[in-house]
Amino acid sequence: MELYLLILVLFAIGSAQAASNSADGALCGKAVPKSATYLKPKASRDKRIQDLLSRMCWDEKVAQLGGVGGLLSQNSSLNVQDYREKAQLHNGTISPGSYLNYAEEAVPVLSDLIVASKKEHRLGIPYVHIADAVNGPTLRGTTLFPSTLSMGMSWNLPLYTKVAEVLRDELVACGINWVLSPEVDVARDPRNGRIGEMYGEDPWLNSEYAAAYISTMQEEDSDGFMKVATTIKHYLYGTSIGGVNQASMLGGVNHIYNILALPYINVFKKVTPATTNLNDAGIKSLAAGVQLELAIGFPTAFESLAGNQTVAGVVQNVNEAVTRILELKFKLGLFDKSLEADAKALKESIVLLKNDGVLPLDSVKKVAVLGPLADVINTGTYAAWTNKENGNNTLLDAIKAEYGEENVNHIQGVRIVDTDGADIDTAVAAAEEAGLAIVALGSVAVGWEDSLVGYRTDGEGNTHASLKLPGLQEQLLEAITATGVPTILVLTGGQAFELHDSAQDAQAILHVFHSGEETGRALVNITTGRVNPSGKLTLTFPARSEINPVYYNREQSDWQGAGAIQFPYLEKNYIYPFGYGLSYTTFEFSGASLDKSSYGTKDKVTLTVKVSNTGKVDGQEVVQVYFRQKVAPLSLPVKRLIGFSKVLVSAGSSKTVKISIPVQDLGYWLDGKYKVDKGTYQLFVGDSSADSSLSSALTAVVA
Ligand SMILES: *[C@@H]1O[C@H](CO)[C@@H](O)[C@H](O)[C@H]1NC(C)=O
Ligand SMILES: *[C@@H]1O[C@H](CO)[C@@H](O)[C@H](O)[C@H]1NC(C)=O
Ligand SMILES: *[C@@H]1O[C@H](CO)[C@@H](O)[C@H](O)[C@H]1NC(C)=O
Ligand SMILES: *[C@@H]1O[C@H](CO)[C@@H](O)[C@H](O)[C@H]1NC(C)=O
Ligand SMILES: *[C@@H]1O[C@H](CO)[C@@H](O)[C@H](O)[C@H]1NC(C)=O
Repeated sequence: MELYLLILVLFAIGSAQAASNSADGALCGKAVPKSATYLKPKASRDKRIQDLLSRMCWDEKVAQLGGVGGLLSQNSSLNVQDYREKAQLHNGTISPGSYLNYAEEAVPVLSDLIVASKKEHRLGIPYVHIADAVNGPTLRGTTLFPSTLSMGMSWNLPLYTKVAEVLRDELVACGINWVLSPEVDVARDPRNGRIGEMYGEDPWLNSEYAAAYISTMQEEDSDGFMKVATTIKHYLYGTSIGGVNQASMLGGVNHIYNILALPYINVFKKVTPATTNLNDAGIKSLAAGVQLELAIGFPTAFESLAGNQTVAGVVQNVNEAVTRILELKFKLGLFDKSLEADAKALKESIVLLKNDGVLPLDSVKKVAVLGPLADVINTGTYAAWTNKENGNNTLLDAIKAEYGEENVNHIQGVRIVDTDGADIDTAVAAAEEAGLAIVALGSVAVGWEDSLVGYRTDGEGNTHASLKLPGLQEQLLEAITATGVPTILVLTGGQAFELHDSAQDAQAILHVFHSGEETGRALVNITTGRVNPSGKLTLTFPARSEINPVYYNREQSDWQGAGAIQFPYLEKNYIYPFGYGLSYTTFEFSGASLDKSSYGTKDKVTLTVKVSNTGKVDGQEVVQVYFRQKVAPLSLPVKRLIGFSKVLVSAGSSKTVKISIPVQDLGYWLDGKYKVDKGTYQLFVGDSSADSSLSSALTAVVA
């Protein structure tokens, strides 16, 4: 777990100017009259902040820059003494603790504490309740959605917005005001164990998802208060060296601006410097713009600022930071409303990678469900879920419910990572007897308190040096496919796997990434054909681990141009490209055109294309638009995603799709300045990023 998570706060910063530059406010320690401006809901927010700041003493200010966390142990019991000690200099945020507490038990405990501490605080400053919510609120009894990467694979922003609405409303019901999402880092190194928490490898796509998430979360309620505040994170993190959690990042300034920092670019301008001790860390982070410390360990860096009220620069920075925290607390309505807590199935996120025609299945009499992941909910690291106590939601449960328990033979065959205790022969016999095998394999990423935590090779704290399946899983798959029995491979894990050898002997491959509580049933709806799969990859699947990293938006100079063979023994460096995913029907794109041939820099380019469903069932297709600037003063990607639209087209019919692209979005960063060049741009439309899937170039001239 991260020891010190220094969080940069994202919300519109008002023009409130710190009332005073002195360390203590002018009215520090004086009794607060009932008529104080900050207590008046009708006064302007800036006046309320200024008034409150002028009444605060130095310690009270420093205390706003940190928070208390880890308060509830697994039975929702609060260690009051621990809270009292931590609370002295930590009055900014509060966060719950164990993820395995049930909402109905934990929420009242926290809610009482929040109400009581607001009353107890000399100035009545409330805590803001902050929590992780990758799959849902980190309290049991709330909805478990698939994690961020799985949602990315849906390529469906309206659906994602609906998910964010449900998530937001559950957060509000749990009294949680501030969420530690979205994670917009660019998933460019498949060895990184935390890719499951990111949307994918494309900076532009990530910003589209993040924008949808933030605007949904931060929507105003009927009183004009922000519903849930968000955090854009982890600030340039996706390609840490070797895929190691929190390792250094490398990159020239143009690479950083154009790729890594693109999702953050309009938000932050400074980076957190490296430091030697906690106090030094506190002073430097504050100067670099960090305004709240979310510490898991105590003592914290910012509490040490309590002794620095005469240190040059610190006072001004603390006043500014406190102003922002107070502003957020006012915006969330924490001063003005009661703090008592009021106490989908994401089938579109599953990607069909291969199908020889075995799917959808018909007339199944018996099925062998094999592999160590068939009876596991593989949530990702940040979920309120445990595999020991929460049953009836796995793939195995859903298959039993579909075909009847007596027709399903479940044999694990091999263990998740260990190489002992394998029983591949029994699994082979079960496959032969049933005549149909569903093999569930992958890497485990579950919460810190899950019963399967010891088997994790994916998720926070893990790095996959190889993208091969862990343990003896590959051997199991080889043995099953060697029988000739029709085999459906179901993968889970927040990562790409090597899928060239025995995987290609399976008749079909589905990847679910991380599971939500409906994933097992959603998978069965896909294998039976009740649902037509429509997920697309937001990650490139490298052909082999040895050639990592591989991503679609490489620079022209990274390889020797389209079609060149740079890796001597490989025809292609990827096995499945970014944007790829199959359906039970087929689509054709035709008649792609642009509305004009020449555009001004303020114009929008409208691309029109006809999508025809040429198969026998209704289906959804993701129309993807990529572009390339023909000539530029620096090496830019060979193609960049710049638009997409997911459309439902009924069997045998067609739809005309229009995608609008602002010319301003075609630019790039050069030495820290954003530029849109006049000149020629090529646009391509298709159903994935692969050259073979894209139409010949449409040309737009920016004049
Ligand atoms: C709750 O958990 C704490 C810490 O594990 C333990 O000390 C306490 O006795 C437990 N309380 C109850 C009521 O089980
Ligand atoms: C922080 O909050 C707690 C609980 O409300 C309070 O006892 C403590 O005095 C506060 N600390 C400061 C420095 O105001
Ligand atoms: C800041 O205060 C801490 C005590 O909280 C003290 O140890 C440290 O030396 C001070 N730093 C400076 C630069 O004065
Ligand atoms: C398990 O889920 C199925 C629906 O998929 C339901 O019919 C069944 O009653 C559930 N069983 C238990 C023990 O909850
Ligand atoms: C599966 O399909 C059934 C029947 O169409 C539907 O009621 C159910 O909601 C679906 N479940 C999921 C998780 O897709």
